[in-house]
Amino acid sequence: MKRRTFLIGAASACLEASLPAFADTPQAYSWDLSPPTDSREAFVKWAVKTRGEDPKYLAERFDRYRILVANRDLWNDANKRAFLLTPREEFCLKRNLGRAYDNAFLDIGYGVTISGPHVVGRMTSSIDVKKGEKVLEIGTGSGYQSAYLSHLTDKVWTIEIIKPLAERTRGVYDDLIKRGYNEFNAISTKNADGYFGWQEAAPFDKIIVTCGIDHIPPPLLQQLKPNGIMVIPVGPPGAQHILKVVKQQASDGTITVARSDIYNGRIVPFVPFTKLEGDKIVGTHNK
Ligand SMILES: C[S@@+](CC[C@H](N)C(=O)[O-])C[C@H]1O[C@@H](n2cnc3c(N)ncnc32)[C@H](O)[C@@H]1O
Repeated sequence: MKRRTFLIGAASACLEASLPAFADTPQAYSWDLSPPTDSREAFVKWAVKTRGEDPKYLAERFDRYRILVANRDLWNDANKRAFLLTPREEFCLKRNLGRAYDNAFLDIGYGVTISGPHVVGRMTSSIDVKKGEKVLEIGTGSGYQSAYLSHLTDKVWTIEIIKPLAERTRGVYDDLIKRGYNEFNAISTKNADGYFGWQEAAPFDKIIVTCGIDHIPPPLLQQLKPNGIMVIPVGPPGAQHILKVVKQQASDGTITVARSDIYNGRIVPFVPFTKLEGDKIVGTHNK
């Protein structure tokens, strides 16, 4: 099922984002795709054959995968598979292609960034997404996070506040879908202020927030199912802790929230959770 709030041509995406020169995917995406993990050579050979991707980026992806596993940033087989199937190079700007698989966040224009692969791996692992679950992302940015999510479930919603960025990323998805990445049909996009969630699609099993704020937005908590999980960077500007928040509902209906820090106290700075007033971004949602 595909829901789109707007559609634009892929032309604007081509100007700004990278489009490595590989052909259409030889094989349509399926949930049975199972990338080999025993060696870099086996993975690259398999992915060139089934996904038609560039061996250079595939080798870099596999090397980063190995480090993520060693660093305990990928917590289960589903997340390992999702990382290996997501072509990060398609979501980076051309000028950053040489750093696509670095352990670093990278500029994507408009003053915002694509989060580093370790952070994406750990945050996504922490919400333990199962196939069929409904997941909401706040902060589409480059589109990489939701692309990764679409290898875990077929129901992904993502909201971006910066209109031209939301349009550019919609174009990136549309272009990749045309090239055979049919898994990205699972992603619904919207340009809006994500503080208020996506009421028409709620409730969600899982929510992932990729911008930093000093509190948990009540509308997002409200749109989370009982026993649902949210991961969100919480703290003062530039000094957030990434919290896993579990919404618990007792048999009498009482709601409580259990929080834990997925980095055991380490600070991980994020771009701010900004605020829309009319059609202008004005300040942040911090209290
Ligand atoms: C770290 S960046 C993007 C990371 C992104 N998930 C990716 O894979 O590239 C955070 C994003 O959150 C967006 N953002 C900030 N405040 C927002 C809000 N109120 N609603 C929706 N998106 C917001 C920013 O514009 C930015 O694109």
